Amino acid sequence: MMNEQSGAARGSAESDADADAIALLKADHRTVEKLFEAFEKAAADDLEAKGTLARRACEELTVHTILEEELLYPVAHKALDKQDEIDVDEAYVEHFLVKTLIEKFDSLKPSDHGFDATFKVMSELVKHHVEEEESALFPELRESGVDLVALGKKLRARKDELMKKLDEAGSKLVGDRSLSFTRAA
Ligand SMILES: [Fe+2]
Ligand SMILES: [Fe+2]
Repeated sequence: MMNEQSGAARGSAESDADADAIALLKADHRTVEKLFEAFEKAAADDLEAKGTLARRACEELTVHTILEEELLYPVAHKALDKQDEIDVDEAYVEHFLVKTLIEKFDSLKPSDHGFDATFKVMSELVKHHVEEEESALFPELRESGVDLVALGKKLRARKDELMKKLDEAGSKLVGDRSLSFTRAA
């Protein structure tokens, strides 16, 4: 994809150790897209595969939304021009919708009516959201002069922490499923 190429053009972003914030978040996006694709390809009656893929997608999305809401969006809110701030507000609202659907999977089983439909709507919503981040918000942030390498370090450290928590507690760890618009102080 176009955005992958522009990431590669920046060279050092390719090695994970010094990838900047945007490269890291885009890598998360690709991971989730692969899970969506695998779900689409899974046989309709392969409930075990569909259940596992849905759980993994929810976990990935849970960690990713926390990272962006804690570390990226507040900074973006502060750094972007007034007319671009709307992109951040929309992102918060889309996250809220995604988190609401993730919550459905706490009780939905792959054999339940509505499981496939819920997953499909969640994946469409996420694809739309990812497209907006990569075509608008991320480029705006890159132009804003925010130190994306420093932000990348923070993201990586927080992600390690969250992944550890996730291993211990499962995706319910994930405290905040509310809608809030946080600004950096
Ligand atoms: Fe997002
Ligand atoms: Fe994202």
